[in-house]
Amino acid sequence: MIRETETKEGIRRIQALKKRFSEKLLILTHHYQRKEIVDLGDYRGDSFGLSQTAADQKACQFIVFCGVHFMAESAEILSQPHQTVQIPAMEAGCWMADMADSPAVENAWKALTQITGSGGVMPLVYMNSDASLKAFCGRNGGAICTSSNAAAAFKWGLQSRDKVFFLPDRHLGQNSADQLGLPPEEIILWDPQKPLGGNSPEDIRRARVILWNGYCLVHTRFQVEHVHKIREDCPEAKIVVHPECTRQVVAMADAVGSTSFIVQYVKEASPGATIVIGTEINLVHRLALEHPDKRILELHYSLCPNMFRINLKNLLWTLEHIGEVNVVRVPEEIKKEAKTALDRMLALNT
Ligand code: 13P
Ligand code: SF4
Repeated sequence: MIRETETKEGIRRIQALKKRFSEKLLILTHHYQRKEIVDLGDYRGDSFGLSQTAADQKACQFIVFCGVHFMAESAEILSQPHQTVQIPAMEAGCWMADMADSPAVENAWKALTQITGSGGVMPLVYMNSDASLKAFCGRNGGAICTSSNAAAAFKWGLQSRDKVFFLPDRHLGQNSADQLGLPPEEIILWDPQKPLGGNSPEDIRRARVILWNGYCLVHTRFQVEHVHKIREDCPEAKIVVHPECTRQVVAMADAVGSTSFIVQYVKEASPGATIVIGTEINLVHRLALEHPDKRILELHYSLCPNMFRINLKNLLWTLEHIGEVNVVRVPEEIKKEAKTALDRMLALNT
C-alpha cells in the first residue's frame, strides 16, 4: 500500500515537472524499460530509433535518456552544443559493451592489419560499445550499426573492403553474415586472450568476417531446448527473437529482428495469435498488456539488470536536478571521431 502511494506520488511529481519544462525537455525510453518509465517518456524505441530521435530533436534543451549508458552516450555525441544529456542511473552499463575495451581492440587491429594491410579491413562496431570504441571505428573508416541495420552495414563494409571486423557481439555478427549467405569457412572468431585471436595468418587471410568474442548474457540465456519445448507444447505459436540470440536459436525461430521489429511483429499479428518472444522480459510483459487480444509469452525469463536500474525514484531525482546531475559527457576528440562513425550509420539508413 505504501509502495503504491509512493509510486502514484512519484508519477504525479514527474508529470508536473514535465509540464513545467514543456518542450525544453525530451525523455527518451528504450523498449526494455519498466512500464511506468516507458509511459512517462516522450518517445520509445530501439537503439537506432532513439539515436535518430536524439539527432533530430534540435529544439529541446534537456534530453533525459532512460536506457543504458552507451545509448545515452550516443545521444550526447549526436546532440547539439546547447543540449545536455542525462541518464537517471550512471551505473546502468552493458555487459556486452564491457567485453571490448579500446586497448585490447587497438592491439587486435594492429595484429590483424599487419597481416591484411590497413586498407583491407572495415571495422564495424555495434552500437553496444563505449564512445572510445566508436571513435576507433570512425578513425579507421568504419561505421556503427544496430540490430536493425547490421546486415546492411555488413553489405556496405564488404563492398567497400575485402573484410569486416565486427565487434563486440559475435552472435549479431554471425546472424548478419548468415543473412548475407557467407560460407562458414569465411567467418572466424577473434578471442582477445589468444595471439592472433586464436587464428593462423592463413585463417585471417582467407576470412571475410572476423567476429570479436563478445555476447549478451541476457540473450544467450535463450536455448534451443526452450524452442523445442514451445514447438511441442504449442505448435501454433510463432516465435520471434532478437538477433543477439545464438544462430541456433535464430535458425529455429519464425522471425528475427530488433526490439522495434518485435513490437511491430506483435502489432501486425492477427487477434487470437500466440507469439513467443525471445528478448528482455520487460518488453515481453508490456507487449502482453498492450495486446490483450493476443497470447504473448516469453521464450524464457530473462531480465537485463542494467536496464532495470532506471526507476521512478532516480528519474524524478534527475528531473528535479535538470541539467545538473548525471550529465553524460564525452571528451571532444573522442566525440568528433565517434560522430563520424555514427553519421555513417545514419547515412546508411537513408
Ligand atoms: P535494440 O537496438 O534492438 O533495441 O537492442 C538493444 C539491446 O541492447 C538489445 O540487447
Ligand atoms: Fe547490454 Fe544485453 Fe542488456 Fe542489451 S540486454 S543492454 S546487450 S546486457
